[in-house]
Amino acid sequence: MELRDGDLVLRPFTLDDVPAIARACQDPEIQRWIPVIPRPYTEEDARTFVLADDLGHQFAITESVTLAGSIGMRVNQFRVGHIGYWCAPEARARGITTRALRLVSRWGLEELGLGRVELITDPDNTASQRVAEKVGFRREGILRSHLLHPDGRRRDSVMFSLLPGEL
Ligand SMILES: CC(C)(COP(=O)(O)OP(=O)(O)OC[C@H]1O[C@@H](n2cnc3c(N)ncnc32)[C@H](O)[C@@H]1OP(=O)(O)O)[C@@H](O)C(=O)NCCC(=O)NCCS
Repeated sequence: MELRDGDLVLRPFTLDDVPAIARACQDPEIQRWIPVIPRPYTEEDARTFVLADDLGHQFAITESVTLAGSIGMRVNQFRVGHIGYWCAPEARARGITTRALRLVSRWGLEELGLGRVELITDPDNTASQRVAEKVGFRREGILRSHLLHPDGRRRDSVMFSLLPGEL
């Protein structure tokens, strides 16, 4: 399964991506905003991620073959897709994640027939909130004390959603 927007290709991960995933996931911003990312992040963690079969739809975001990021969507029993993403530091601020989120959202709502796609961000994660807003996601509200970070901090989340016809 591939999703395309010009030179941007979303494709399944392979074991060849392991070194690039492990390199990207050393990034302090990825570790800061995604509490489930193991730290320190090793190639073994990347291999476990690539081989996992319980993470829903996971896509490598690639630009001219180079791994630029990751975007995934899990679908629940109510036909809601929950999306998460990261972008490698050197690929940021060029609209790549915005385009990838638009592709996955359109695929989820139009091809899979989902009733809703949603994502959460930390209230201080301005870049991720901009990505959601640029695609057309609506900010619904705050989930209080929603996530537990490895250092013991509990953080609120902002919930965003997009419904069929809103893209
Ligand atoms: C969030 C993230 C995925 C964005 O990826 P990206 O490819 O750089 O995103 P885009 O280029 O599509 O858009 C980024 C937007 O945020 C803005 N932005 C970036 N850093 C910002 C900051 N520190 N403060 C405010 N806005 C910021 C950019 O200006 C851009 O908005 P604009 O087009 O209106 O100018 C990337 O920064 C990342 O991987 N962060 C760490 C992991 C993470 O936070 N994942 C999401 C968890 S919810």
